[in-house]
Amino acid sequence: MRIGVPKESSPGETRVAASPKSVAQLVKLGYSVVIEEGAGALASFPDELYREAGADIVARKAAWGADVVTKIEPPSAAEIGLLKPGAVLIGLIAAPRSPELLKKLAAAKVTVLAMDSVPRISRAQALDVISSMANIAGYRAVIEAAGVFGSFFTGQVTAAGKVPPAKVFVSGAGVAGLAAIGAARALGAIVRATDIRAAVAEQVESMGADFVAVEAESQESTDGYAKEASEDYAAAAARMYAEQVKDVDIVVTTALIPGKPAPRLITEEMVASMRPGSVIVDMAAGSGGNVAGSVADKLVTTANGVRIIGYTDLAGRLPTQASNLFAQNIVNLFKLITPGKDGELVLDMEDVVIRGMTVTNDGEVTWPPPAVSVSAAPAAGAAPPGPPPEPEVKKPRNPAVGYSVMGVCAVALLALFWASPAGLLGHFMVFMLAVVIGYYVIGNVNHSLHTPLMSVTNAISGIIIVGSLLGLRDADSSVAIVVLSVGGILLASINVFGGFTVTQRMLGMFKRS
Ligand code: NAI
Repeated sequence: MRIGVPKESSPGETRVAASPKSVAQLVKLGYSVVIEEGAGALASFPDELYREAGADIVARKAAWGADVVTKIEPPSAAEIGLLKPGAVLIGLIAAPRSPELLKKLAAAKVTVLAMDSVPRISRAQALDVISSMANIAGYRAVIEAAGVFGSFFTGQVTAAGKVPPAKVFVSGAGVAGLAAIGAARALGAIVRATDIRAAVAEQVESMGADFVAVEAESQESTDGYAKEASEDYAAAAARMYAEQVKDVDIVVTTALIPGKPAPRLITEEMVASMRPGSVIVDMAAGSGGNVAGSVADKLVTTANGVRIIGYTDLAGRLPTQASNLFAQNIVNLFKLITPGKDGELVLDMEDVVIRGMTVTNDGEVTWPPPAVSVSAAPAAGAAPPGPPPEPEVKKPRNPAVGYSVMGVCAVALLALFWASPAGLLGHFMVFMLAVVIGYYVIGNVNHSLHTPLMSVTNAISGIIIVGSLLGLRDADSSVAIVVLSVGGILLASINVFGGFTVTQRMLGMFKRS
């Protein structure tokens, strides 16, 4: 089959749905690929690079006339007319807001896979362009803020005096919010973030930011998504926002509840309380805005000198990166729908991912799809089906058994001391102390430090191996010492070589395939 990649025609669109790398991958899957002349120019992919990757450069009509057309923005009426009946179109569609477009596509007998309708389940993450674009947009939001902010983000000590770091506050710690936190931290700012879902606090903190909690119950639905704020929550949140925005230099808002207009979080009074020169990036400006006074696609300066950025094309402001990720998401989709790797596309409507993103099929509008369960937690208060399970009845333990075992161990230990050389008691005490101290020290080590900790235990194993070898070398060693030394070498070697194997595996995760 032939895949066509036309040049985007929407004003201001800089991205393209294929990169030279993705073309090579599609060719490997058995497809032939045609690219419209100049399609990748704005993303810094000249035609020559596509040609080298195995694509043919063609005129507009030929790109649209392919069996499968991949693009970014929804097609215009004229573009739908260029699609052949039975063709498959893959791209962004905005299905919930575009009933008319869906009808036109169905009438043209085009099957449409909407990349923005991919269900947000783990198996579909590799196709999730919304997350790919939100990630880029979150990063770019901070870069846009840094571009108009009048000071450094990082603190500095200069000959002229100290410069304090900028303070950044991020509202909404989803994909875009976490990317914004990462970018602001990387620039050296002090970062705080909040979210209506208290469960994300750990992720926020793992990125080096402080989580600012709202003093009210977390507003999380049973499917793990945010739900609309209750009145109590909204009042407590308003107090928190009023405090935070006054104190920080940069605010990035990314709050969104799927299928709802953007929640209004920052009021005019709050903006008025900010210092002149402060910057707000309202990432939700295109869907109603989280911030009073933000205007979609505009930079607004308020009377008190606060700049509010409402750009809705943040991902497109990094056209090469955005095209690369979009194209990779599309390649991942093709891997899923080309089971034979033979250039033949197979749409399995039993697959929830494919069904979820198919918005028209065989002349019919197939959107919305049946709901996909992404339940992260059981519904609060939901009664389990059927009678409740019988509670497991544990037999009480007989304490006499425990005391007898302890007594036998104590007698065995005393017998061992009595029969062993005089120095053993001292060594045994050191060993017991080491066990107790080791237990508490290692138990309190942060998870992120477990790899360096493993190196330390490898070093200890090295010492054990050296000691055991010395024990073996000694001609006077008794059989017991030889047995202990061999055992010691064996166990310590498992730790050393096991450590190397695990480290090798972890390093492998960072290597390009
Ligand atoms: P997401 O769904 O991953 O994250 C949204 C977060 O907001 C969630 O963590 C949710 O719990 C939180 N949230 C919801 N209501 C809240 C409230 N009242 N207070 C605090 N947190 C709240 O969404 P994603 O993908 O990160 O996108 C975020 C926003 O960025 C969306 O509005 C999206 O449309 C926009 N966006 C804008 C772009 C641009 O160029 N301006 C580009 C890409 C995305």
